[in-house]
Amino acid sequence: MKKTVLSCIQPTGEMHYGNYLGAVKNWVDLQEKYDCFYGVVDYHAITMPYKTKKLREDTWSLIFNLLAVGVKAENLFIQSLVPEHAELGWIFNNFASYGRVQKMTQFKDKSRDSTTKSKDNFISVGLFDYPVLQAADILIYKADYVPVGKDQDQHLELTREIASRFNNQVGKEYFVMPETLHTESPKILSPADPTRKMSKSAGEKHYISVFAEEARIRKQIRSAVTDTGEESDDMSAGLVNLFTLLKGAGADGVHDSLMKDYQNGDLKYVNLKDATADALVAMSNGFREKRAELLADKKEIKYKIKQSSRAIRERAQQTLKEVKDLTGLMNV
Ligand code: TRP
Repeated sequence: MKKTVLSCIQPTGEMHYGNYLGAVKNWVDLQEKYDCFYGVVDYHAITMPYKTKKLREDTWSLIFNLLAVGVKAENLFIQSLVPEHAELGWIFNNFASYGRVQKMTQFKDKSRDSTTKSKDNFISVGLFDYPVLQAADILIYKADYVPVGKDQDQHLELTREIASRFNNQVGKEYFVMPETLHTESPKILSPADPTRKMSKSAGEKHYISVFAEEARIRKQIRSAVTDTGEESDDMSAGLVNLFTLLKGAGADGVHDSLMKDYQNGDLKYVNLKDATADALVAMSNGFREKRAELLADKKEIKYKIKQSSRAIRERAQQTLKEVKDLTGLMNV
């Protein structure tokens, strides 16, 4: 039997090469070997101030983006179409230690972050409870592996604590302990400032959309910072980033030959930049075409995702039914 993989992502408007090479590409590759569940988690997205109309738009837009880069429709679901996540989340609230949840650094960071907080300093109970819902996302499919970044280790630890307290309560090893899957994923930096991560929040210059047009990609790569001024024998962060992008875009051969140039001390930066731009342009053109195709069938694709969410929901309902039987709650 295939092992089960689950991961989730919050709906945000755009997808850049940092998101893609750092996480989503991995999701795509894992589909070959595992039984995969990938969720767009809108219940999580409402834990912070948000705009109602934009939430739904962003949710669909992320779905189309994920499909365009190779996530299979049958593996995708929208969290609010599987409301059992929220019900299991409520049950798990009673198996999660308050003191433990209080220690979560993502909550501390988010509740402190003035750029995302509402003007009246409102912090919701939902934001505090977020990791318990995350535990429900994972355990409701009895996931063996959860591909996430290191920043999620604490949430996974909490998930295992909830699972084992639950198992203790019901007197059997009902939930298996999920493990994080830290696959080697490159860290992509901002082309304009390679001392920071590629990110949308830092502004236009600091990220390259995976659906960007050729002219924009060429301009951003041409002006990418290669020297940060520090004297060092190591390759500069900006050069490392270009090499990483080049390899990430699948141009292994060119990557290796330019790396040889670098080691021999005769790499021309313009050659590296041209090669990187060529590779990214080719990749983005493919993604853009695919997305345009999908958007031309918008209605059908949305229907398909509702269907896949419904099929996935049946798995979730089965778990919830067992959980309610085990805990003394009622099933209809
Ligand atoms: N908290 C995750 C993040 O910030 C998103 C997420 C929600 C998630 N539920 C999940 C990730 C379940 C893995 C599994 O990226």
